[in-house]
Amino acid sequence: MIKLLSHLAHIEITSPDVEASAKFYEEQVGLRVFAREGGKVYLRCWGDYYNYSLVIAPGEQPALGAMAWRTSSPEALEEAAKRIAAEGIEVQWSDDRLSLGRSFRFVGPYGHTMELFWDVEKFHGTGDQASIYPDRPERRSRHAVAPRQLDHVTVAASDVRGMADWYSRVLGFRIMAYTVLEEAPVTVFTVVTTNEKSHDLGIVLDGSKTPGRINHYAFWVDTREDLLQAADVLMENGTNIEYGPSIHGIGEQNFLYFRDPSTMRIEVNTGGYRNYVPDWEPNVWKPSQGPNNFYRNSSMPMSMTESFPPADLPSATEEGIHPDTREALLGNMNPYSEHGRG
Ligand SMILES: [Fe+2]
Repeated sequence: MIKLLSHLAHIEITSPDVEASAKFYEEQVGLRVFAREGGKVYLRCWGDYYNYSLVIAPGEQPALGAMAWRTSSPEALEEAAKRIAAEGIEVQWSDDRLSLGRSFRFVGPYGHTMELFWDVEKFHGTGDQASIYPDRPERRSRHAVAPRQLDHVTVAASDVRGMADWYSRVLGFRIMAYTVLEEAPVTVFTVVTTNEKSHDLGIVLDGSKTPGRINHYAFWVDTREDLLQAADVLMENGTNIEYGPSIHGIGEQNFLYFRDPSTMRIEVNTGGYRNYVPDWEPNVWKPSQGPNNFYRNSSMPMSMTESFPPADLPSATEEGIHPDTREALLGNMNPYSEHGRG
């Protein structure tokens, strides 16, 4: 199979108050508005090579609108469309997306809308926005968190391995690692990638009956010092840190998590390994090995298991869900903590 996808390019989220969210991303995160169009606000990080990496669309609840990858070539776009259609999934082409050429969207087997494109406008800052360095699309921002670029998205699915297998088989994502509970053969997390990063797509187990949910998405900063300063600036300006700063075992990225005004979760990360191995075999991590917390010395807050839009988890008596999965999702044991029961 030819290499189909190159990298995560932008993400569209919904918010019940688009302007409140946009204001937060501008003032607290340090993104800049590129455009307002059709009720949506398009924002960019200073280091984004294309015009925008975050789109905020109106919606009743915080949710995933779409996650968009750039393909590796025009031919790869056509091939991806063919492969998705061959799975019996409808491919909806469009030629009117802001800053994009021909693109298409489809809803994957676990309910997540994905957008693929090849043609895209590159960003070149001018005037006050121009960098003195030729490779930079814009001069470095030091405002607020000031992330350099979008990094990854983590979604929720009812079958973690099923989703990873589909995106691997159909679109060529490499599966990098799994987290499996100690107590039962339940896969609660995986990371998959289209490039050398440990992941540009994460998948967490979702016990709800709502398909297509998102757990968080992440921006990149260059150094650990930048990340620690981001945590400091957020705290000083009234934004609590939900989890971190710390280091993930899987991927070895430094991380911190916080929420936007719609309650959507954002991660800032940096560091981590690069993996170029084309026939990598995913390793299985147990929670006691610290997949989520490298130092194995603190539990992830249960609030981190909340995905978007908010959904009811299965009741204690509901059929059709593995009892250990249900226990994990109901919070009787924290599937991500190093202690198992968090
Ligand atoms: Fe993440």
